[in-house]
Amino acid sequence: MEENLITRKRLNYDNKLILAPMVRIGTLPMRLLALDYGADIVYTEELIDRKLLRSIRRENDVLGTIDYIDKTDGTVVFRTCPRERDNVVLQIGTSDPIRAAQVALMVENDVAGIDVNMGCPKKFSMLGGMGASLLREPQKATEILQNLIKTVAIPVTCKIRILPNQEETLQLCETLASTGIAAIAIHGRTIEERPQHSNHNNVLKHISAKLLIPVIANGGSKDIQKYSDISRFKEETGCSSVMLARAAEWNCSIFRKEGLLPMEDVIKSYLKHAIDCDNSPSNTKYCVQNILRELQESPLGRKFLDAQTLEQICEVWGLGDYCRSKRKEFRDKGLLGRFQVTPTIFDKELSNGISHKRKAQENEDVSLMRCAFLRNNYITDSELPKTRLLKWTKEYHKKMPVYDTRQENKLFCSVVTVDGRKYGSSFWEKNKKWAEQGAALVCLYFLGIIDEESLTAGGNILT
Ligand SMILES: Cc1cc2nc3c(=O)[nH]c(=O)nc-3n(C[C@H](O)[C@H](O)[C@H](O)COP(=O)(O)O)c2cc1C
Repeated sequence: MEENLITRKRLNYDNKLILAPMVRIGTLPMRLLALDYGADIVYTEELIDRKLLRSIRRENDVLGTIDYIDKTDGTVVFRTCPRERDNVVLQIGTSDPIRAAQVALMVENDVAGIDVNMGCPKKFSMLGGMGASLLREPQKATEILQNLIKTVAIPVTCKIRILPNQEETLQLCETLASTGIAAIAIHGRTIEERPQHSNHNNVLKHISAKLLIPVIANGGSKDIQKYSDISRFKEETGCSSVMLARAAEWNCSIFRKEGLLPMEDVIKSYLKHAIDCDNSPSNTKYCVQNILRELQESPLGRKFLDAQTLEQICEVWGLGDYCRSKRKEFRDKGLLGRFQVTPTIFDKELSNGISHKRKAQENEDVSLMRCAFLRNNYITDSELPKTRLLKWTKEYHKKMPVYDTRQENKLFCSVVTVDGRKYGSSFWEKNKKWAEQGAALVCLYFLGIIDEESLTAGGNILT
Protein backbone atom coordinates (compact mmCIF):
# COMPACT_ATOMS: atom_id res chain seq x y z
CA MET A 1 0.00 0.00 0.00
CA GLU A 2 2.82 2.39 0.88
CA GLU A 3 4.44 1.94 -2.49
CA ASN A 4 1.15 2.71 -4.11
CA LEU A 5 0.89 5.98 -2.23
CA ILE A 6 4.40 7.05 -3.11
CA THR A 7 3.68 6.69 -6.84
CA ARG A 8 0.48 8.74 -6.55
CA LYS A 9 0.38 12.45 -7.31
CA ARG A 10 -0.47 14.49 -4.22
CA LEU A 11 -3.69 16.45 -4.57
CA ASN A 12 -3.12 20.16 -4.98
CA TYR A 13 -5.81 22.63 -3.87
CA ASP A 14 -4.59 25.71 -5.79
CA ASN A 15 -6.76 27.18 -8.49
CA LYS A 16 -9.24 24.35 -8.52
CA LEU A 17 -12.94 23.99 -9.25
CA ILE A 18 -14.50 21.78 -6.64
CA LEU A 19 -17.78 19.91 -6.25
CA ALA A 20 -18.86 20.53 -2.64
CA PRO A 21 -19.88 17.76 -0.26
CA MET A 22 -23.65 17.28 -0.44
CA VAL A 23 -25.60 14.62 1.41
CA ARG A 24 -27.38 12.27 -1.03
CA ILE A 25 -26.30 14.40 -4.03
CA GLY A 26 -22.57 13.72 -3.92
CA THR A 27 -22.74 10.02 -4.73
CA LEU A 28 -20.62 8.43 -7.46
CA PRO A 29 -22.75 9.30 -10.55
CA MET A 30 -22.83 13.01 -9.68
CA ARG A 31 -19.13 13.08 -8.87
CA LEU A 32 -18.28 11.48 -12.21
CA LEU A 33 -20.56 13.91 -14.02
CA ALA A 34 -18.85 16.85 -12.31
CA LEU A 35 -15.48 15.50 -13.45
CA ASP A 36 -16.81 15.12 -17.01
CA TYR A 37 -17.84 18.76 -17.01
CA GLY A 38 -14.55 20.10 -15.71
CA ALA A 39 -14.49 19.93 -11.91
CA ASP A 40 -10.97 19.23 -10.66
CA ILE A 41 -11.84 17.86 -7.24
CA VAL A 42 -15.05 16.17 -6.11
CA TYR A 43 -16.06 15.76 -2.47
CA THR A 44 -18.22 12.89 -1.32
CA GLU A 45 -21.32 13.51 0.73
CA GLU A 46 -20.55 13.57 4.46
CA LEU A 47 -20.08 10.00 5.68
CA ILE A 48 -20.31 9.36 9.38
CA ASP A 49 -17.19 7.70 10.83
CA ARG A 50 -19.09 5.00 12.77
CA LYS A 51 -20.98 4.00 9.65
CA LEU A 52 -17.81 3.65 7.60
CA LEU A 53 -16.18 1.66 10.37
CA ARG A 54 -19.10 -0.78 10.25
CA SER A 55 -18.45 -1.40 6.56
CA ILE A 56 -16.35 -3.86 4.64
CA ARG A 57 -14.38 -3.05 1.49
CA ARG A 58 -15.24 -5.03 -1.63
CA GLU A 59 -13.87 -4.76 -5.14
CA ASN A 60 -16.84 -5.01 -7.44
CA ASP A 61 -15.46 -6.67 -10.58
CA VAL A 62 -18.66 -6.32 -12.56
CA LEU A 63 -19.04 -2.56 -12.09
CA GLY A 64 -15.33 -1.85 -11.76
CA THR A 65 -16.01 -0.05 -8.50
CA ILE A 66 -14.78 -0.27 -4.93
CA ASP A 67 -17.63 -0.60 -2.51
CA TYR A 68 -17.78 -0.05 1.22
CA ILE A 69 -20.75 -2.06 2.36
CA ASP A 70 -22.53 -1.83 5.68
CA LYS A 71 -22.02 -5.20 7.36
CA THR A 72 -25.29 -5.01 9.21
CA ASP A 73 -27.73 -4.17 6.44
CA GLY A 74 -25.85 -4.57 3.15
CA THR A 75 -26.28 -0.99 1.94
CA VAL A 76 -23.49 0.63 -0.04
CA VAL A 77 -22.10 3.28 2.29
CA PHE A 78 -19.50 4.54 -0.19
CA ARG A 79 -18.89 3.54 -3.79
CA THR A 80 -15.91 4.83 -5.71
CA CYS A 81 -13.92 3.86 -8.80
CA PRO A 82 -10.40 4.20 -10.19
CA ARG A 83 -11.43 7.06 -12.50
CA GLU A 84 -11.97 9.41 -9.56
CA ARG A 85 -9.27 8.08 -7.29
CA ASP A 86 -6.93 11.04 -7.79
CA ASN A 87 -9.73 13.61 -7.53
CA VAL A 88 -12.08 12.40 -4.83
CA VAL A 89 -12.04 13.74 -1.29
CA LEU A 90 -13.94 11.76 1.28
CA GLN A 91 -15.66 13.97 3.82
CA ILE A 92 -16.19 12.48 7.24
CA GLY A 93 -18.51 13.45 10.03
CA THR A 94 -16.65 12.79 13.26
CA SER A 95 -16.20 13.93 16.82
CA ASP A 96 -13.35 11.63 17.69
CA PRO A 97 -9.65 11.68 16.66
CA ILE A 98 -9.29 7.90 16.92
CA ARG A 99 -12.35 6.97 14.88
CA ALA A 100 -11.45 9.61 12.30
CA ALA A 101 -7.97 8.14 11.87
CA GLN A 102 -9.34 4.60 11.65
CA VAL A 103 -11.62 5.64 8.80
CA ALA A 104 -8.83 7.46 7.02
CA LEU A 105 -6.57 4.41 7.23
CA MET A 106 -9.32 2.22 5.86
CA VAL A 107 -9.97 4.35 2.75
CA GLU A 108 -6.54 5.90 2.25
CA ASN A 109 -5.67 3.94 -0.83
CA ASP A 110 -9.01 4.57 -2.56
CA VAL A 111 -9.29 8.35 -2.24
CA ALA A 112 -7.17 11.44 -2.89
CA GLY A 113 -7.89 13.28 0.34
CA ILE A 114 -9.82 13.34 3.61
CA ASP A 115 -11.96 16.24 4.76
CA VAL A 116 -13.55 16.82 8.14
CA ASN A 117 -16.97 18.42 8.20
CA MET A 118 -16.87 21.30 10.67
CA GLY A 119 -19.73 23.28 9.19
CA CYS A 120 -22.89 21.20 9.37
CA PRO A 121 -25.43 22.98 11.61
CA LYS A 122 -27.96 20.11 11.63
CA LYS A 123 -29.17 18.86 14.99
CA PHE A 124 -27.91 15.34 14.34
CA SER A 125 -24.35 16.61 13.82
CA MET A 126 -24.37 19.19 16.58
CA LEU A 127 -25.71 16.82 19.23
CA GLY A 128 -23.18 14.19 18.21
CA GLY A 129 -20.33 16.68 18.70
CA MET A 130 -19.70 16.67 14.93
CA GLY A 131 -20.04 19.29 12.16
CA ALA A 132 -20.35 22.89 13.29
CA SER A 133 -20.14 21.96 16.97
CA LEU A 134 -16.38 21.53 16.35
CA LEU A 135 -16.18 25.27 15.64
CA ARG A 136 -16.91 25.75 19.33
CA GLU A 137 -14.32 23.18 20.33
CA PRO A 138 -11.12 24.16 18.52
CA GLN A 139 -9.06 21.92 20.80
CA LYS A 140 -10.95 18.82 19.75
CA ALA A 141 -11.02 19.96 16.11
CA THR A 142 -7.24 20.31 16.05
CA GLU A 143 -6.76 16.93 17.73
CA ILE A 144 -8.85 15.29 15.02
CA LEU A 145 -6.86 16.97 12.25
CA GLN A 146 -3.50 16.25 13.91
CA ASN A 147 -4.33 12.61 14.35
CA LEU A 148 -5.45 12.30 10.74
CA ILE A 149 -2.30 13.99 9.44
CA LYS A 150 -0.14 11.75 11.62
CA THR A 151 -1.93 8.63 10.41
CA VAL A 152 -2.29 8.96 6.64
CA ALA A 153 -0.13 10.14 3.78
CA ILE A 154 -2.92 11.72 1.74
CA PRO A 155 -3.82 15.39 2.31
CA VAL A 156 -6.22 16.31 5.11
CA THR A 157 -8.52 19.34 4.98
CA CYS A 158 -11.54 20.69 6.82
CA LYS A 159 -14.62 22.63 5.84
CA ILE A 160 -15.94 25.28 8.19
CA ARG A 161 -18.47 28.10 8.41
CA ILE A 162 -17.51 31.61 9.48
CA LEU A 163 -18.08 32.79 13.06
CA PRO A 164 -20.09 35.96 13.75
CA ASN A 165 -16.82 37.83 14.38
CA GLN A 166 -14.24 38.18 11.59
CA GLU A 167 -11.16 38.24 13.84
CA GLU A 168 -12.34 35.19 15.75
CA THR A 169 -12.89 33.40 12.45
CA LEU A 170 -9.35 34.28 11.38
CA GLN A 171 -7.96 33.08 14.70
CA LEU A 172 -9.82 29.79 14.36
CA CYS A 173 -8.56 29.34 10.78
CA GLU A 174 -4.99 30.01 11.90
CA THR A 175 -5.31 27.45 14.68
CA LEU A 176 -6.68 24.85 12.26
CA ALA A 177 -4.06 25.71 9.61
CA SER A 178 -1.27 25.22 12.15
CA THR A 179 -2.09 21.51 12.32
CA GLY A 180 -0.63 21.05 8.83
CA ILE A 181 -3.86 20.72 6.83
CA ALA A 182 -3.43 21.06 3.08
CA ALA A 183 -6.28 23.56 2.62
CA ILE A 184 -9.40 24.89 4.29
CA ALA A 185 -12.82 25.30 2.71
CA ILE A 186 -14.86 28.16 4.15
CA HIS A 187 -18.60 28.62 3.73
CA GLY A 188 -19.11 32.37 4.14
CA ARG A 189 -22.17 32.11 6.39
CA THR A 190 -22.51 31.64 10.13
CA ILE A 191 -24.22 28.66 11.75
CA GLU A 192 -27.38 30.72 12.20
CA GLU A 193 -27.49 32.06 8.64
CA ARG A 194 -29.57 30.32 5.99
CA PRO A 195 -28.85 29.84 2.27
CA GLN A 196 -30.94 32.89 1.31
CA HIS A 197 -28.68 35.17 3.37
CA SER A 198 -25.81 36.83 1.52
CA ASN A 199 -22.46 35.10 1.64
CA HIS A 200 -19.83 37.16 3.46
CA ASN A 201 -17.34 37.31 0.59
CA ASN A 202 -15.44 40.13 2.33
CA VAL A 203 -14.70 37.89 5.32
CA LEU A 204 -13.38 35.17 2.99
CA LYS A 205 -11.18 37.79 1.31
CA HIS A 206 -9.76 38.96 4.64
CA ILE A 207 -8.97 35.40 5.73
CA SER A 208 -7.53 34.19 2.44
CA ALA A 209 -5.16 37.19 2.42
CA LYS A 210 -3.79 36.17 5.83
CA LEU A 211 -3.61 32.38 5.64
CA LEU A 212 -0.61 30.64 4.14
CA ILE A 213 -2.55 27.57 2.97
CA PRO A 214 -5.04 27.55 0.07
CA VAL A 215 -8.49 28.80 1.06
CA ILE A 216 -11.41 27.33 -0.83
CA ALA A 217 -14.31 29.78 -1.18
CA ASN A 218 -17.78 28.36 -0.68
CA GLY A 219 -21.29 29.76 -0.38
CA GLY A 220 -21.59 31.62 -3.68
CA SER A 221 -24.16 29.51 -5.53
CA LYS A 222 -27.00 32.00 -5.11
CA ASP A 223 -25.14 34.36 -7.45
CA ILE A 224 -23.63 31.78 -9.78
CA GLN A 225 -25.65 31.12 -12.90
CA LYS A 226 -22.87 30.79 -15.46
CA TYR A 227 -19.20 29.88 -15.70
CA SER A 228 -17.95 33.49 -15.62
CA ASP A 229 -19.76 34.01 -12.29
CA ILE A 230 -17.34 31.48 -10.78
CA SER A 231 -14.34 33.67 -11.67
CA ARG A 232 -16.14 36.70 -10.24
CA PHE A 233 -16.76 34.83 -6.98
CA LYS A 234 -13.10 33.81 -6.88
CA GLU A 235 -11.99 37.41 -7.39
CA GLU A 236 -14.41 38.80 -4.82
CA THR A 237 -13.19 36.34 -2.19
CA GLY A 238 -9.51 36.38 -3.18
CA CYS A 239 -9.46 32.62 -2.54
CA SER A 240 -7.26 30.01 -4.22
CA SER A 241 -10.14 27.77 -5.29
CA VAL A 242 -13.93 27.72 -5.55
CA MET A 243 -16.25 25.05 -4.23
CA LEU A 244 -19.83 24.82 -5.53
CA ALA A 245 -22.75 22.99 -3.98
CA ARG A 246 -26.23 24.12 -5.07
CA ALA A 247 -25.17 25.55 -8.44
CA ALA A 248 -23.81 22.09 -9.29
CA GLU A 249 -26.75 20.26 -7.74
CA TRP A 250 -29.14 22.19 -10.04
CA ASN A 251 -27.04 22.02 -13.18
CA CYS A 252 -23.74 20.22 -12.91
CA SER A 253 -22.58 21.59 -16.28
CA ILE A 254 -21.84 24.83 -14.41
CA PHE A 255 -18.28 23.43 -14.33
CA ARG A 256 -18.05 23.62 -18.14
CA LYS A 257 -15.84 26.39 -19.49
CA GLU A 258 -17.86 26.23 -22.71
CA GLY A 259 -21.06 27.13 -20.88
CA LEU A 260 -24.14 25.52 -19.37
CA LEU A 261 -25.86 22.61 -21.09
CA PRO A 262 -29.65 22.22 -21.24
CA MET A 263 -31.09 20.44 -18.23
CA GLU A 264 -32.25 17.52 -20.35
CA ASP A 265 -28.71 16.79 -21.53
CA VAL A 266 -27.46 16.95 -17.96
CA ILE A 267 -30.15 14.53 -16.76
CA LYS A 268 -29.36 12.06 -19.54
CA SER A 269 -25.64 12.14 -18.83
CA TYR A 270 -26.33 11.78 -15.11
CA LEU A 271 -28.61 8.79 -15.73
CA LYS A 272 -25.96 7.07 -17.85
CA HIS A 273 -23.56 7.27 -14.94
CA ALA A 274 -26.29 6.12 -12.55
CA ILE A 275 -26.95 3.06 -14.73
CA ASP A 276 -23.25 2.31 -15.17
CA CYS A 277 -22.61 2.32 -11.46
CA ASP A 278 -25.85 0.59 -10.49
CA ASN A 279 -26.90 3.54 -8.40
CA SER A 280 -30.00 2.94 -6.26
CA PRO A 281 -33.30 4.07 -7.80
CA SER A 282 -34.13 6.19 -4.76
CA ASN A 283 -30.84 8.09 -4.85
CA THR A 284 -31.08 8.51 -8.62
CA LYS A 285 -34.62 9.81 -8.30
CA TYR A 286 -33.62 12.25 -5.57
CA CYS A 287 -30.77 13.70 -7.65
CA VAL A 288 -32.90 14.05 -10.78
CA GLN A 289 -35.65 15.70 -8.70
CA ASN A 290 -33.13 18.29 -7.57
CA ILE A 291 -32.16 19.02 -11.15
CA LEU A 292 -35.79 19.24 -12.31
CA ARG A 293 -36.97 21.34 -9.34
CA GLU A 294 -40.12 23.27 -10.30
CA LEU A 295 -40.35 21.38 -13.60
CA GLN A 296 -41.58 18.39 -11.59
CA GLU A 297 -45.00 19.96 -12.11
CA SER A 298 -44.72 19.57 -15.91
CA PRO A 299 -46.23 16.49 -17.66
CA LEU A 300 -42.73 15.04 -18.05
CA GLY A 301 -42.03 15.78 -14.38
CA ARG A 302 -45.19 13.98 -13.31
CA LYS A 303 -44.30 10.96 -15.43
CA PHE A 304 -40.93 10.98 -13.73
CA LEU A 305 -42.44 11.23 -10.26
CA ASP A 306 -44.54 8.12 -10.96
CA ALA A 307 -41.42 6.15 -11.92
CA GLN A 308 -40.11 3.79 -9.23
CA THR A 309 -37.44 1.61 -10.76
CA LEU A 310 -34.25 2.79 -12.41
CA GLU A 311 -35.59 1.47 -15.68
CA GLN A 312 -38.81 3.47 -15.37
CA ILE A 313 -36.86 6.63 -14.53
CA CYS A 314 -34.58 6.10 -17.52
CA GLU A 315 -37.55 5.44 -19.80
CA VAL A 316 -38.73 9.03 -19.24
CA TRP A 317 -35.56 10.28 -20.94
CA GLY A 318 -35.42 7.61 -23.66
CA LEU A 319 -32.75 5.57 -21.90
CA GLY A 320 -34.91 2.54 -21.09
CA ASP A 321 -33.13 0.30 -23.62
CA TYR A 322 -29.71 1.36 -22.39
CA CYS A 323 -30.74 0.66 -18.81
CA ARG A 324 -32.18 -2.77 -19.67
CA SER A 325 -29.16 -3.87 -21.68
CA LYS A 326 -26.73 -2.72 -18.99
CA ARG A 327 -28.70 -4.45 -16.25
CA LYS A 328 -28.75 -7.63 -18.28
CA GLU A 329 -25.01 -7.35 -18.86
CA PHE A 330 -24.45 -6.89 -15.12
CA ARG A 331 -26.69 -9.83 -14.26
CA ASP A 332 -24.96 -12.06 -16.82
CA LYS A 333 -21.62 -11.12 -15.33
CA GLY A 334 -22.94 -12.11 -11.92
CA LEU A 335 -23.55 -8.76 -10.27
CA LEU A 336 -24.78 -9.36 -6.77
CA GLY A 337 -27.80 -7.41 -5.59
CA ARG A 338 -27.08 -4.73 -3.05
CA PHE A 339 -28.14 -7.05 -0.27
CA GLN A 340 -26.70 -10.25 -1.58
CA VAL A 341 -23.19 -9.24 -0.74
CA THR A 342 -23.31 -9.33 3.01
CA PRO A 343 -26.12 -11.50 4.30
CA THR A 344 -23.89 -14.53 4.15
CA ILE A 345 -21.50 -12.89 6.55
CA PHE A 346 -24.41 -11.48 8.46
CA ASP A 347 -26.09 -14.86 8.76
CA LYS A 348 -22.91 -16.54 9.90
CA GLU A 349 -22.56 -13.95 12.62
CA LEU A 350 -25.97 -14.84 13.95
CA SER A 351 -26.37 -17.71 16.29
CA ASN A 352 -27.85 -20.91 14.95
CA GLY A 353 -30.69 -20.27 17.31
CA ILE A 354 -32.79 -18.47 14.77
CA SER A 355 -32.80 -21.02 12.00
CA HIS A 356 -35.35 -23.24 13.73
CA LYS A 357 -37.76 -20.34 13.72
CA ARG A 358 -37.46 -20.03 9.98
CA LYS A 359 -38.29 -23.72 9.68
CA ALA A 360 -41.23 -23.27 11.99
CA GLN A 361 -42.54 -20.53 9.78
CA GLU A 362 -42.16 -22.63 6.67
CA ASN A 363 -44.13 -25.40 8.38
CA GLU A 364 -46.92 -22.98 9.11
CA ASP A 365 -47.52 -22.63 5.38
CA VAL A 366 -46.16 -19.15 5.09
CA SER A 367 -45.39 -17.84 1.61
CA LEU A 368 -41.80 -16.93 2.27
CA MET A 369 -39.23 -14.94 0.38
CA ARG A 370 -35.86 -13.63 1.41
CA CYS A 371 -36.57 -9.99 0.90
CA ALA A 372 -35.01 -6.97 2.56
CA PHE A 373 -36.84 -3.73 3.18
CA LEU A 374 -34.75 -0.82 1.90
CA ARG A 375 -36.09 2.41 3.39
CA ASN A 376 -34.15 4.52 0.90
CA ASN A 377 -36.18 3.10 -1.97
CA TYR A 378 -39.26 4.98 -0.81
CA ILE A 379 -39.53 8.70 -1.08
CA THR A 380 -43.05 9.24 0.27
CA ASP A 381 -44.91 7.33 2.98
CA SER A 382 -47.70 6.44 0.54
CA GLU A 383 -45.21 4.28 -1.39
CA LEU A 384 -44.31 2.18 1.65
CA PRO A 385 -45.28 -1.52 1.37
CA LYS A 386 -47.46 -1.46 4.52
CA THR A 387 -49.38 1.59 3.27
CA ARG A 388 -49.90 0.01 -0.14
CA LEU A 389 -51.03 -3.26 1.38
CA LEU A 390 -53.51 -1.53 3.66
CA LYS A 391 -54.88 0.41 0.68
CA TRP A 392 -55.29 -2.85 -1.25
CA THR A 393 -57.20 -4.55 1.59
CA LYS A 394 -59.55 -1.55 1.84
CA GLU A 395 -60.11 -1.46 -1.90
CA TYR A 396 -60.96 -5.18 -2.02
CA HIS A 397 -62.96 -5.14 1.22
CA LYS A 398 -60.60 -7.52 3.03
CA LYS A 399 -59.76 -7.51 6.71
CA MET A 400 -56.84 -5.26 7.69
CA PRO A 401 -53.41 -6.94 7.52
CA VAL A 402 -52.31 -8.51 10.83
CA TYR A 403 -48.60 -8.61 11.61
CA ASP A 404 -46.95 -11.19 13.84
CA THR A 405 -43.38 -10.14 14.57
CA ARG A 406 -40.75 -12.15 16.39
CA GLN A 407 -37.56 -10.91 17.95
CA GLU A 408 -34.31 -12.79 18.34
CA ASN A 409 -30.78 -11.50 18.99
CA LYS A 410 -31.90 -7.88 18.52
CA LEU A 411 -33.28 -8.79 15.07
CA PHE A 412 -36.85 -8.97 13.85
CA CYS A 413 -38.79 -11.15 11.46
CA SER A 414 -42.46 -10.68 10.61
CA VAL A 415 -45.33 -12.59 9.07
CA VAL A 416 -48.42 -10.81 7.81
CA THR A 417 -51.84 -12.40 7.45
CA VAL A 418 -53.99 -11.09 4.61
CA ASP A 419 -57.19 -12.68 3.37
CA GLY A 420 -56.51 -15.83 5.41
CA ARG A 421 -53.02 -16.41 4.02
CA LYS A 422 -49.63 -15.79 5.62
CA TYR A 423 -46.68 -14.04 3.97
CA GLY A 424 -43.28 -13.31 5.38
CA SER A 425 -39.69 -12.40 4.65
CA SER A 426 -36.97 -14.67 5.97
CA PHE A 427 -34.59 -11.72 6.14
CA TRP A 428 -34.03 -10.61 9.72
CA GLU A 429 -34.30 -6.85 10.01
CA LYS A 430 -32.82 -4.50 12.57
CA ASN A 431 -36.17 -3.22 13.80
CA LYS A 432 -39.80 -4.23 14.05
CA LYS A 433 -41.05 -1.60 11.60
CA TRP A 434 -38.71 -2.76 8.83
CA ALA A 435 -39.54 -6.41 9.46
CA GLU A 436 -43.24 -5.61 8.98
CA GLN A 437 -42.49 -3.62 5.85
CA GLY A 438 -40.50 -6.61 4.55
CA ALA A 439 -43.43 -8.95 5.15
CA ALA A 440 -45.79 -6.49 3.44
CA LEU A 441 -43.42 -6.36 0.47
CA VAL A 442 -43.50 -10.14 0.11
CA CYS A 443 -47.30 -10.08 0.36
CA LEU A 444 -47.55 -7.39 -2.34
CA TYR A 445 -45.42 -9.60 -4.56
CA PHE A 446 -47.51 -12.74 -4.02
CA LEU A 447 -50.71 -10.75 -4.57
CA GLY A 448 -49.31 -9.60 -7.92
CA ILE A 449 -49.34 -5.91 -6.91
CA ILE A 450 -45.63 -5.58 -7.53
CA ASP A 451 -43.53 -7.71 -9.85
CA GLU A 452 -40.20 -9.42 -9.47
CA GLU A 453 -38.54 -6.88 -11.72
CA SER A 454 -39.32 -4.04 -9.35
CA LEU A 455 -38.08 -6.07 -6.39
CA THR A 456 -34.86 -6.92 -8.19
CA ALA A 457 -34.40 -3.37 -9.43
CA GLY A 458 -34.89 -2.12 -5.89
CA GLY A 459 -32.30 -4.59 -4.62
CA ASN A 460 -34.81 -6.22 -2.24
CA ILE A 461 -34.56 -9.86 -3.24
CA LEU A 462 -31.83 -11.92 -1.68
CA THR A 463 -30.71 -15.35 -2.63
C1 LIG B 1 -28.31 19.12 -0.54
C2 LIG B 1 -27.14 19.65 0.25
C3 LIG B 1 -26.40 18.76 1.02
C4 LIG B 1 -25.30 19.22 1.74
N1 LIG B 1 -24.52 18.32 2.42
C5 LIG B 1 -23.34 18.74 2.97
C6 LIG B 1 -22.41 17.81 3.50
O1 LIG B 1 -22.62 16.58 3.46
N2 LIG B 1 -21.26 18.28 4.04
C7 LIG B 1 -20.98 19.64 4.08
O2 LIG B 1 -19.92 20.02 4.56
N3 LIG B 1 -21.84 20.53 3.57
C8 LIG B 1 -22.99 20.12 2.99
N4 LIG B 1 -23.82 21.03 2.41
C9 LIG B 1 -23.43 22.45 2.39
C10 LIG B 1 -22.68 22.75 1.07
O3 LIG B 1 -21.53 21.95 0.91
C11 LIG B 1 -22.30 24.23 0.98
O4 LIG B 1 -21.47 24.55 2.06
C12 LIG B 1 -23.50 25.18 1.00
O5 LIG B 1 -24.56 24.70 0.21
C13 LIG B 1 -23.09 26.55 0.48
O6 LIG B 1 -22.51 26.45 -0.81
P1 LIG B 1 -23.30 26.85 -2.16
O7 LIG B 1 -23.66 28.30 -2.05
O8 LIG B 1 -22.36 26.58 -3.28
O9 LIG B 1 -24.54 25.99 -2.21
C14 LIG B 1 -24.95 20.60 1.71
C15 LIG B 1 -25.72 21.49 0.95
C16 LIG B 1 -26.79 21.03 0.21
C17 LIG B 1 -27.58 21.99 -0.62
